[in-house]
Amino acid sequence: PDPNKSEFHLTAQQGTSEILNGVESETLGYNGNILGPVIRVHKGEKVKVKMKNNLDEGTTLHWHGLRVDGENDGGPHSGIMPGETWEPEFTIDQPAATLWYHPHMMEKTAKQVYEGLAGLFYIEDEVSDSLAIPKEYGVNDFPLIIQDRKMDASDNMEYSPNMKDMMMGLYGNAFLVNGAIAPYLEVPKGLVRLRILNGSNGRTYDFSLDNSQAFNQIASDGGFLEKPIEKSAVRLSPGERAEILVDFSQYETGEKISLINTDSNVYAASASNDEMDKEELMEFAVTNKESGVNEIPEQLTEIEPIEPKSAVKTREFVMMGMGTTLTINDKQMDMTRIDEEVDFNATEIWEVSNQGAGKNGGMAHPFHIHGVQFQVLDRDGNPPPANESGWKDTVLIQPKETVRLIATFKNKGVFMYHCHILEHEDAGMMGQYEVN
Ligand code: C2O
Ligand code: CU
Ligand code: CU
Repeated sequence: PDPNKSEFHLTAQQGTSEILNGVESETLGYNGNILGPVIRVHKGEKVKVKMKNNLDEGTTLHWHGLRVDGENDGGPHSGIMPGETWEPEFTIDQPAATLWYHPHMMEKTAKQVYEGLAGLFYIEDEVSDSLAIPKEYGVNDFPLIIQDRKMDASDNMEYSPNMKDMMMGLYGNAFLVNGAIAPYLEVPKGLVRLRILNGSNGRTYDFSLDNSQAFNQIASDGGFLEKPIEKSAVRLSPGERAEILVDFSQYETGEKISLINTDSNVYAASASNDEMDKEELMEFAVTNKESGVNEIPEQLTEIEPIEPKSAVKTREFVMMGMGTTLTINDKQMDMTRIDEEVDFNATEIWEVSNQGAGKNGGMAHPFHIHGVQFQVLDRDGNPPPANESGWKDTVLIQPKETVRLIATFKNKGVFMYHCHILEHEDAGMMGQYEVN
């Protein structure tokens, strides 16, 4: 092995996990029965990954939010057949952020992610190294992968989407946090950092605390916000991440606070789809330990805005969902077709709108672009909310809404853009662009 390169080994494998009431469900994981290890890298680091596929079907390994060349991105062209190993290599060249990895096999993404294939990918840099924020993994800095799952009558977790799930994205009747239902997490007094990933197939959440306590959002998909943003709820659609700081200093030892979902349903179709008994995701129990961090920095980082004047082109993307026909610019994904050609190093504005056809005005779609981190210029002409003013790679677009994004395309190759509701992606709500 090259001593100048960090090597990570992942094996996609089958296993079983006790999800509900002791019933063993068949699940998939990287190096384990469900989910995968947190991969931690530093800006500037040279990374090599050996990804072995021990499944009985093809898969890929995509780095969601990571800026790498197309051939290392792990999109649908990078299929790994059963028994094969894929070895991408790249140098980390972007700010500290909480990213994630998951499969991206054509028509199999929803099922493979649902069954457990997903993991977090942390980038640290000189900014995160020097900030006085909680950063002790598992002590005051916790990953929270939130996913909903549909448990059947015999408490088994199986991917069997019905017609409605195919149309709207799958909505489950149970929430998993890091692969477990309603877990319990001991937290120290003081500030605690939660790195939240909405790794669900279809559901959008508004994350809140059950006592309505406010918290500070410090990072969005692609890294730190310039300043902490105080919020009492943070909305994340599938694929999006947020880092928040929660202050547990005012609680007695043993007190319990719950993380809940207060979103009643972002898609307009029907309220009755929500079969969830309770919207509680997990419980925090405050211990007598100290987190060691009690103050929130005023400034986190600096983000240079990308000037709209520097854009050489504006492209339009129109998302449309009509029953089971889901399109972007009236097209469905075709692996043999490049939809957009982008010049290497060009800055472009992407104007993404949601046509929202359907009887109740349609549903929201999270639009995700591979190979870049972008900035949100505006939503229907208005500046984005403060927590969307940093780096993003996925953005929720409401029916009839138009969102303008700006990005500089610094990596070459073929990349995807798609709706991150995984049933929609698999149904072809995806296109390809090539940077050259
Ligand atoms: Cu998170 Cu194309 O994916
Ligand atoms: Cu991605
Ligand atoms: Cu969609």
